Amino acid sequence: MTRAIAGILGLGMAVPDKVLTNADLETMVDTTDEWIKTRTGISERHIAGPDDTTSSLSAKAAMAALDDAGIRPSEVDAIIVATITPDMIFPSAACLVQDKIGARNAVAFDISAGCSGFVYGVTLARSLIESGTYRNILVVGAEVLSRITDWTDRSTCVLFGDGAGAAVLGPRSEGDEGPRIISTSLGSDGSGADLIHIPAGGSLMPASEETVKNRLHFISMAGNQVYKFATKIMGDIALDALQKCGLTKEDIDWFVPHQANIRIILHAADKLGLPMEKVFVNVERYGNTSAASIPIALFEARKSGLIKPGNIVVLVGFGAGLTWGAAVVRW
Ligand code: UT7
Repeated sequence: MTRAIAGILGLGMAVPDKVLTNADLETMVDTTDEWIKTRTGISERHIAGPDDTTSSLSAKAAMAALDDAGIRPSEVDAIIVATITPDMIFPSAACLVQDKIGARNAVAFDISAGCSGFVYGVTLARSLIESGTYRNILVVGAEVLSRITDWTDRSTCVLFGDGAGAAVLGPRSEGDEGPRIISTSLGSDGSGADLIHIPAGGSLMPASEETVKNRLHFISMAGNQVYKFATKIMGDIALDALQKCGLTKEDIDWFVPHQANIRIILHAADKLGLPMEKVFVNVERYGNTSAASIPIALFEARKSGLIKPGNIVVLVGFGAGLTWGAAVVRW
């Protein structure tokens, strides 16, 4: 029997209609368009409307990806949603997505790996496919970060946006054409847990009048320390994933990094010796959408026709946990 190889069969994305510009933010907190653009590269971001939730955006992205793959919801064997903003603490966003798209034969569960979540999901899906456990797996990265953003905190509220990206992964045979995952590499370091977190609302510090008054249900981030971590780890993890499949940085055709900050992306590209012509960037239009950022970027990179058959595409994420991860795709 030939070994199955995990391929990417389809991609989709969804963002809310409402756009919040830097000019809008200037009226909300003490900031400027100039500061936001020069420090982060962000010009605007999409923000959820009253009816948008992580599961509703996920379902839209998932349906688009299934359509792209030519696969019916009933043929999906597993749904993995990577998110830090599930509709509620439980049940999982993935179970809500399963119901919304009518994927009645799928097992469904979430993973929490911050902005690395999509790469974690792809890694897990790959091993489930290649072990023969499941065939068609929907991997979704989705966030409604606007609901956990402190809109009075200028150091964080200018950074984030909402959206969802989805990929359908399924088995390919050796001789098949089409994108396939050829390597992944993940890492975690829980000693950095406090660097990006929501302090309250979990079992450690349940919601109380006090926690609400002290704004402990919003994202709290040590921006500078996360920045240092990110600039170190992105190059390292990309190189590790490449080395695992016998490739080097010279083999990279497209680098699709987590879109958190243009300065972090520039730093990673520099470390890998990559010209920016090989780096996909859309942070200016979406901000940091955490787990959604890589699948949205991958969707747009493919849609724009930049990625060609045979290209080596490297996806790299880092984020809360701390976590990091890279996946190498031969297109
Ligand atoms: O997805 C993974 C998670 N997160 C990240 O990847 C974020 C990583 N970190 C970063 O991207 C950057 O650290 C930030 C964009 C968050 C901050 O940029 P920075 O260049 O590290 O700025 P800073 O925090 O050192 O602040 C510089 C100054 C400070 O003023 P003083 O103390 O120098 O007077 C801040 O108070 O900029 C001030 N500042 C602002 N000014 C205008 C902070 N936020 C703003 C703002 N508008 N929105």
